[in-house]
Amino acid sequence: MTPHNEIIEKTRVFVQRQLQGAEAGHDWFHIERVWKTAKHIAAQETSNLLVVELGALLHDIADAKFHNGDETLGPRIAREFLEKEQVAAAVITAVENIIRHISFKGSYTSENYKTIELDIVQDADRLDALGAIGIARAFNYGGFKNRKLYDPAIKPAQYATKEQYKSNEAPTINHFYEKLFLLKDKMNTATGKQMAEDRHRFMETFVEQFYQEWNGVNGSAP
Ligand code: ADP
Ligand code: NI
Repeated sequence: MTPHNEIIEKTRVFVQRQLQGAEAGHDWFHIERVWKTAKHIAAQETSNLLVVELGALLHDIADAKFHNGDETLGPRIAREFLEKEQVAAAVITAVENIIRHISFKGSYTSENYKTIELDIVQDADRLDALGAIGIARAFNYGGFKNRKLYDPAIKPAQYATKEQYKSNEAPTINHFYEKLFLLKDKMNTATGKQMAEDRHRFMETFVEQFYQEWNGVNGSAP
């Protein structure tokens, strides 16, 4: 095994163990998809592949959402692991920065940090929120929060109010308008943009048919 493959394999085992029992939207399979997509995008770019792969594998190692909003935990766990494996200091810093800056919201803004490796991993992570997988993850998350699929009284193309979110009345369909349909314009790389366009169209088709079926119409009928 090459040194590259060896550290990647060790990281895979570490992450898989660490994420045992994680909820379906952020489980090992999410990481595996982001990892694969990141490698696919990286094949069209000039980047440090070790940083890309480690960044993809470790990007959700301790999501702040599930750790009382603590955004320092993920980078810290990643650093400890990579130091133990004697990974080069510059690589560790780059991976740490990917974890810090990848989030859609997050208190770190991307203005002060921009590298091709972050661009790639961020695109791969965003792509996993789009398309068929993105739809599945959104409804899985909505179910986890006990949200409605859709509510005709709440205009889907409008933002749900904070109160509706608090009382769990913001239907999952709203999430498409608030986040998912906005992602295609936030992509960084040419490959990422192209893949996002594709997945975006699929989601548009999905919501159109969803409304038709809601109204008792056969989805494919005019
Ligand atoms: P990330 O993978 O960048 O951490 P999030 O944690 O924001 O992204 O979301 C994880 C998954 O859960 C995504 O697929 C996202 O669309 C979905 N999700 C997040 N918030 C909501 C919501 N309010 N309603 C439905 N799905 C959501
Ligand atoms: Ni992620």
